[in-house]
This record gives sequence, structure tokens and C-alpha cells, in this order.
Amino acid sequence: MYYRELINLSGTGVEIIPCFADPSEVAVVAKEAGGLGKEWLDAHETYQNKRGLEIVQNHFTFALKLSRGDQSFLDRLPNTVALKEKTQDYVNEMSAEFPSLENWEADELSFHLYDDQEVGLSRHRDNLRFIGLVAIVAIEGECDLVITHKGQDMISPVLPGDLCLLRAPGLIDTDEEIRPEHSVQNLKTETRLSMMLRANDRPAEAIPGFKFNNWDPGQTSD
Ligand SMILES: [Fe+2]
Repeated sequence: MYYRELINLSGTGVEIIPCFADPSEVAVVAKEAGGLGKEWLDAHETYQNKRGLEIVQNHFTFALKLSRGDQSFLDRLPNTVALKEKTQDYVNEMSAEFPSLENWEADELSFHLYDDQEVGLSRHRDNLRFIGLVAIVAIEGECDLVITHKGQDMISPVLPGDLCLLRAPGLIDTDEEIRPEHSVQNLKTETRLSMMLRANDRPAEAIPGFKFNNWDPGQTSD
């Protein structure tokens, strides 16, 4: 497959693979996420990021560190683990076009449950520590992924089962900024659930403003 938006420097940096997971695969993951109950962390907040940009996020999170911490949560989430494996395999197979993805390995898995119809997560770029690709599978509900590219907003509706691949540092060999500016907007359903996988080139460090359910970097050393 030719990933035009990822491989060309002038591309948007986002490729959406429609129907990556079928309805039965996402339904069982949604059920597992729904069973997390009090584990969900309330991440609704507004803050200024490093660039001084105001970030609005209207979502709950459940996040697992995969390279450290208590891994017993995974036993409760077998279908989620299966979808994670399928996504990681897909990314690794993309190494035919992007050699840097050959050993790409998710360091974290997180669910995001958005509940604001207007803004789920305002415009931002993912942190530089996340390398290769950021992979997001839409699980339940509908929204728009808005890419701000060359000053213009490009709106992509995202449906359950779609895989969104966002370019991250190291994917292609360049010093230019290749991370897409993106936002989650316009929920068309009461809530919207997604599963995100990210590789991390500083896995032992805390991520500012981001909490894991199974690992506290303040208490855990390498
Ligand atoms: Fe993001």
C-alpha cells in the first residue's frame, strides 16, 4: 500500500484506514472498556501547552503502560489486547514502506472517552517523545478528526473500526516538522471511544499531564 499522506513531506501526516477492525471486534473492546467502571480517570481540563497554545480536553482516560508497571489489567482485557496486537502487526508490516517501523512497539495503550459535542480535544501536536506513528482505532461513536494543514482545516469523519495513523518523529528521514496538527471535534454521538497506541523513546519518564492506571513514574524507577 502507498501511504501518500505519510510518505511525502508535503502530505497531511495523517492516513485513515477505513474498516481496519470489523464491528464485532470493536464491539467486544467497547464492552471491556465499559466494564472499567471506577478505573476511568477524569481528564477534563484546559491548560496551556509548551507552545503557549490553549488545550481543551473533554474526555476520560484509561491508560496502561506496557513496558513497566502492573500488567495484570491486561488479563481483564483480552479483546483489547487482541486489537492492540493486530494494530501493532499492521504498523510493523508498514516497514516495507517505512523501515523505521520494523521494530515499532507500543509502550502505552490508552482509551479516550470523549463526551463534549463540540470539542473533544482541541488542536495540538503529540509530544516529540512519541515516535514513528501514533495509532488510534475508533471503537464507538462518531466524530471528526480535523487536520490543520498549511493553515487550512481538513475534516475527516471517523467511524468505529477506522484506524487513524498520525505521523511521528523518525517515521521518515527529515529534520522538518512532520507531526500533524489535529483535533477531535463535532461528536455526532453522545460519547466517542477510541483506543490509542504510542511508542515512546523516553519510556522511563513521566508524561506531563498524563496519568497511567498501572504505573506511577514518581514511585517507580527503572
Ligand atoms: Fe493527539
